[in-house]
Amino acid sequence: MVRFHGQFQWLLLMLMQLYVISGEFFRPFNVTYDHRALIIDGERRILISAGIHYPRATPEMWPDLIAKSKEGGADVIQTYVFWNGHEPIRGQYNFEGRYDVVKFIKLVGSNGLYLHLRIGPYVCAEWNFGGFPVWLRDVHGIEFRTNNAAFKEEMQRFVTKIVVLMRQEMLFSWQGGPIIMLQIENEYGNVESSYGQGGKDYVKWAASMAVGLGAGVPWVMCRQVDAPEFILDACNGYYCDGFRPNSNNKPVLWTEDWDGWYTVWGGRLPHRPVEDLAFAVARFFQRGGSFQNYYMFFGGTNFGRSSGGPLYITSYDYDAPIDEYGLLSQPKWGHLKDLHAAIKLCEPALVAVDSPQYVKLGPMQEAHVYNKKVTGRRLSSSHHAGDESKCSAFLANIDQHRAASVEFRSQMYTLPPWSVSILPDCQNVAFNTAKVGAQTSIKEVEFDRAHFSDIAVPQNIMLQNRLHYFSDDWKTVSEPVGVWSANNFTVKGILEHLNVTKDSSDYLWYFTRVHIAREDISFLKNNRINSTITIDSIRDVVHIFVNGQLAGRAFGHWVKVVQPVQLVEGYNDVALLSITVGLQNYGAFFEKDGAGIRGQIKLTGLNNGDIDLSEFMWTYQVGLKGESQTIFSVAENERASWTDLKLDAISSSLAWYKNSFNEPDGMDPIALDLSSMGKGQAWVNGHHIGRYWTLDSPKDGCQKACDYRGPYNSDKCTTNCGKPTQIWYHIPRSWMQALNNSLVIFEETGGNPFEISIKKYSAPLICAQVSEMHYPPLWKWSSPLFGQVLISNMTPEMYLQCENGHVIAIEFASYGTPQGTCQKYSKGDCHAPNSLDVVAAACQGRESCSVEISNAVFGGDPCRSIVKTLAVEARCVSSRLLGSLAVE
Ligand SMILES: *[C@@H]1O[C@H](CO)[C@@H](O)[C@H](O)[C@H]1NC(C)=O
Ligand SMILES: *[C@@H]1O[C@H](CO)[C@@H](O)[C@H](O)[C@H]1NC(C)=O
Ligand SMILES: *[C@@H]1O[C@H](CO)[C@@H](O)[C@H](O)[C@H]1NC(C)=O
Ligand SMILES: *[C@@H]1O[C@H](CO)[C@@H](O)[C@H](O)[C@H]1NC(C)=O
Ligand SMILES: *[C@@H]1O[C@H](CO)[C@@H](O)[C@H](O)[C@H]1NC(C)=O
Repeated sequence: MVRFHGQFQWLLLMLMQLYVISGEFFRPFNVTYDHRALIIDGERRILISAGIHYPRATPEMWPDLIAKSKEGGADVIQTYVFWNGHEPIRGQYNFEGRYDVVKFIKLVGSNGLYLHLRIGPYVCAEWNFGGFPVWLRDVHGIEFRTNNAAFKEEMQRFVTKIVVLMRQEMLFSWQGGPIIMLQIENEYGNVESSYGQGGKDYVKWAASMAVGLGAGVPWVMCRQVDAPEFILDACNGYYCDGFRPNSNNKPVLWTEDWDGWYTVWGGRLPHRPVEDLAFAVARFFQRGGSFQNYYMFFGGTNFGRSSGGPLYITSYDYDAPIDEYGLLSQPKWGHLKDLHAAIKLCEPALVAVDSPQYVKLGPMQEAHVYNKKVTGRRLSSSHHAGDESKCSAFLANIDQHRAASVEFRSQMYTLPPWSVSILPDCQNVAFNTAKVGAQTSIKEVEFDRAHFSDIAVPQNIMLQNRLHYFSDDWKTVSEPVGVWSANNFTVKGILEHLNVTKDSSDYLWYFTRVHIAREDISFLKNNRINSTITIDSIRDVVHIFVNGQLAGRAFGHWVKVVQPVQLVEGYNDVALLSITVGLQNYGAFFEKDGAGIRGQIKLTGLNNGDIDLSEFMWTYQVGLKGESQTIFSVAENERASWTDLKLDAISSSLAWYKNSFNEPDGMDPIALDLSSMGKGQAWVNGHHIGRYWTLDSPKDGCQKACDYRGPYNSDKCTTNCGKPTQIWYHIPRSWMQALNNSLVIFEETGGNPFEISIKKYSAPLICAQVSEMHYPPLWKWSSPLFGQVLISNMTPEMYLQCENGHVIAIEFASYGTPQGTCQKYSKGDCHAPNSLDVVAAACQGRESCSVEISNAVFGGDPCRSIVKTLAVEARCVSSRLLGSLAVE
């Protein structure tokens, strides 16, 4: 798949839209399965699937994300269905905008890709409340995810709604649509034992209910060892090559290959090295797997208040092959693309046999061979190489430390540690999981020295672009402390947070008044005493105000709070602001977890003993005054009495801020830099871009270098220690207009709005390094006639690519023995003098290019009997700037 630009891209999009309207994407086909694979239209298939959650991007981003998934080698797109987005109020459905799941699926179909729809409706997904609408808690007699009549009725109603919608829209495969597979429930096996017999009965009910809907394609239950015979069970994890389904009649499916991980506010950033990821995928297909989905291929953003908890951040980047902003994450995307091409070359052999032949190659080395010998007579004069025997093999070295030389079919192969070599013809290596030939890219959110102190950012280009986009004309209005409207109520005791807010807001005020007698504090000067407020347990955040003044704050997942406070003789006002930061989305009985305050609230440290405030009358106020006025919207924001903000008058507590900005030019994605702020929420033109929180991750626990070798876990290759977990927040281009965009911020803890900036996000620097010994790039070989591909005659190539209209400006090129790594390359003893000219001739000013790695291309051998490498460093610049750049 080639990416088109300019007018042609528009034409293509328009054609795609027409196609979408026509509704039929494929000749209708049935999907069945056997023990080896899904059978699509009568053929066993080896399928690569890319996880993309439609509400974590905008509809305007979907075409590019789907195209990049396809270009990266995906056959299938996988998504959950997000019940709480589709039915925010019981009986009132929403299938618009980011929740237009039908449009999303049609786009997938119009790209010629299949779709795996995981309806759930429990989805986990680090999504608010695991995808359940919060009103579901209030259904009479309900208990979630077990054999409970009220729950089953609601679940069946929603699942039926989705299946009927898909059928009406002709989206199932047998209607010519892209949906090849569905999912009911999600990882229920993880929690089933907590529900006893009710859990077992629920699994049977859910399976029968789903299949009874007559969708006509297979259903999956992932992580469900007791899935009934008529439902597929599937593996989720970092590795699934050892997984065997619970029946010999079912194929080996991997619904979630965790290619990264999520993170929490104050957490480090996890990264999964692509060499290990590719190893896991290759091992899966080596040992009989047939369907593999990347969770996530694009993670995206938890816009609004959609992130789950405890305390999950707004970014859902997930270290996925396509990053949060929609840019390729390199070399991850490129290396997986090469892997997928190699696997596709093997597909004819993989599906031709029922199970691979195992060959032990060494103590920790093994081969699996898919060899279909053609026994029938063939005409030797036939030019159809496809008629020949099919043979593909995978050679694995699972030794974490040492490379190994192995003999396979009388040839020697060298296998790096923890790697798999793929031999589509059982002879030539097309790919090794540990040898990355794809380009690396260095991402920048416009150059800002403060944020890149440890990266040597080159000097010339990005500095010129540094702009704040905001005038100093900030406006502010403060949010009142405590009860602010007649819409309040008073009851005895402490109510559970969600029981009061129904999650209509993150915020809930608890207010009470306590009388402190003279003898309680008599012997202390100024009639002020040191007392503490002690709260048994809170989640996620609480701010404590006494007599209108902030006493302190606490946050965590059910943590005890001990807050010193200063009381006065007489009446004291105690106001607690309880704040949720994403509702629980995982665990048995998680709907009962609730939020806010648990247990007792006491005043301690008084002469006459503790005062139990939990027995007091408390007044409750849901939400913020500014929220009720919708002052974040463009139409309503004048309802607040904004005043000019002065630098010396920035509040350290609850305040709203607003300003406006013009959209940055170009096509690069846009980020809002909130590193100068504390914690809160932000809106652009009324679109809720998410919660923000400038909370530092731990100072240690990050690894200086990441060793891909050995089993991965989410703590293994983390970065960003001692820095805020997230400071950049994606503002989708489609939410902006050219001029006068409104930004409204609610700040809880104090920050400096004058330092807020808008930045362009891009990959301005790319590097690649490919040696003569590297395997040739595979997309050159793929021919519709498998078997005719001549592997051995190809030369390795270097492929470079810029995005979003940027073009290549070569900064360094050396064919020979270049030294160093990206951003620190230098010439070695061997260097072809025309290296720069050759690479520049092929690449300069282009959006993408490729260069063959051979002596001939570089005008002869610069140093005989030495393995040559080409190393290139290039910038991706706007074509406007290219003219002003001189090549070295
Ligand atoms: C799919 O299977 C059904 C039931 O066996 C059959 O009636 C239908 O014709 C098949 N459709 C296609 C397109 O093969
Ligand atoms: C809270 O509600 C009561 C009863 O409706 C009302 O009298 C009082 O004024 C309200 N408080 C505020 C601050 O509006
Ligand atoms: C929430 O309210 C329901 C009734 O509406 C009640 O049964 C439940 O105990 C409450 N939860 C808590 C934690 O107070
Ligand atoms: C009261 O609290 C203040 C500040 O928290 C502290 O400095 C002081 O030592 C405390 N006094 C007593 C008597 O505990
Ligand atoms: C910018 O938009 C606001 C409304 O958000 C409007 O009041 C203001 O007049 C606009 N300013 C300009 C220069 O158009």
